[in-house]
Amino acid sequence: MIFREDLLQGQVALVTGGGTGIGFVISRELARHGADVAITSRNPEHHTQIVQEVEALGRRALAIQADVRDPEQTQRVAERVREELGRIDILVNNAAGNFLCAAEQLSPNGWRAVVEIVLHGTFFMSKAVLPAMKEQGGGAIVNIGANYAWLAAPYVSHSGAAKAGVLNLTRTLAVEWAPYNIRVNAVTPGPIADTEGVRRLMSDPKTHKAVLDTVPLKRLGKREEIAWAVLFLVSPAAAYITGHNLVVDGGMWFNHRMFRPEV
Ligand code: COA
Repeated sequence: MIFREDLLQGQVALVTGGGTGIGFVISRELARHGADVAITSRNPEHHTQIVQEVEALGRRALAIQADVRDPEQTQRVAERVREELGRIDILVNNAAGNFLCAAEQLSPNGWRAVVEIVLHGTFFMSKAVLPAMKEQGGGAIVNIGANYAWLAAPYVSHSGAAKAGVLNLTRTLAVEWAPYNIRVNAVTPGPIADTEGVRRLMSDPKTHKAVLDTVPLKRLGKREEIAWAVLFLVSPAAAYITGHNLVVDGGMWFNHRMFRPEV
C-alpha cells in the first residue's frame, strides 16, 4: 500500500467506465483505500467483476448501466448513487471511446460518438453530481485526459479534440466551482499496459516500438500508476490543488514526436 488504508474512509466515489481497463483499477484502488464505489458502464457484462472486487474489500459497490452521452442518464446515475450510497464525494470521469481513423475517412457519426462520450460525457456527469457535492460542502472531480491532446494527434482527431476540450473544461470548472469547495483536476496518462487504448492504438508492432521510443522511462505505464495519481488528487494531500493536469506518462510528453501509427 502506498497510501494509508483509511485515506478515503466514509467517502463515496463514482467512476464512469469503471468496469474495465484503467477505470476498473481506479475503482478497485479507491475501494482499497476506504471508499464505497459506484461505477457506470454501458455493458452490464462489465459490472460483475468490479462489484465482486469492491465487495471483497469490504466496501459497498453499485454498478449502473448508463451511457454518459445522455444527460438524462447521467442525472439518473447521480440520483441512484445518492439514494443507494448516500452521498457523492469523488467523481472520476474516465469513460472514453477511441479508434484509429484518418480524419479524411472519419464519418460524422464516428466523430460524434467519441466527442460525445469523452467531452459531453464529462460535462454531463460533472453537472449531475454538482448538487450533491454542493450540499455536502465540497468534493473532488478527476478527469482522465490523454497526452496527445495538446499536440497533433494523427488518426485520433476525434479523441484528441475531445480530450483537449476536457483539459480546458477541467480548468474552467475548477475556477467556477471553487466557491463550492469542489476541486477539479485531470490525470493525463501516456500509454498504459492492459488497456483497450493500447490494444486499439498500438496493436501494430512498429507503432508499439515507435511509441516506446518516445517514452524516457522506456516502458508502458501500469494501470495502478494512474490510480495512484487519482488517489493523490482526491486525497487531503491535494487540498490546495485545483485545475491541475497531472501527467503520468513516463516523461513522454517532453519527447512526443508526431508519429503516424500504422493504419
Ligand atoms: N473506424 C472508423 N469508424 C469507426 C470505427 C473504426 N474503427 N469504429 C466505429 N466507427 C464509427 C462507426 O462506423 C459509426 O459511424 P457510421 O454510423 O458512420 O458508420 C460510429 O463510429 C459510431 O459507431 P458505433 O459502434 O455505433 O458507436 P458506439 O457508440 O456503439 O461505440 C465507439 C462508440 C465507436 C467509440 C466504440 O469503439 C466504443 O464503444 N468504444 C469503447 C471502448 C474504447 O474505445 N476504449 C478506448 C479508450 S482509449
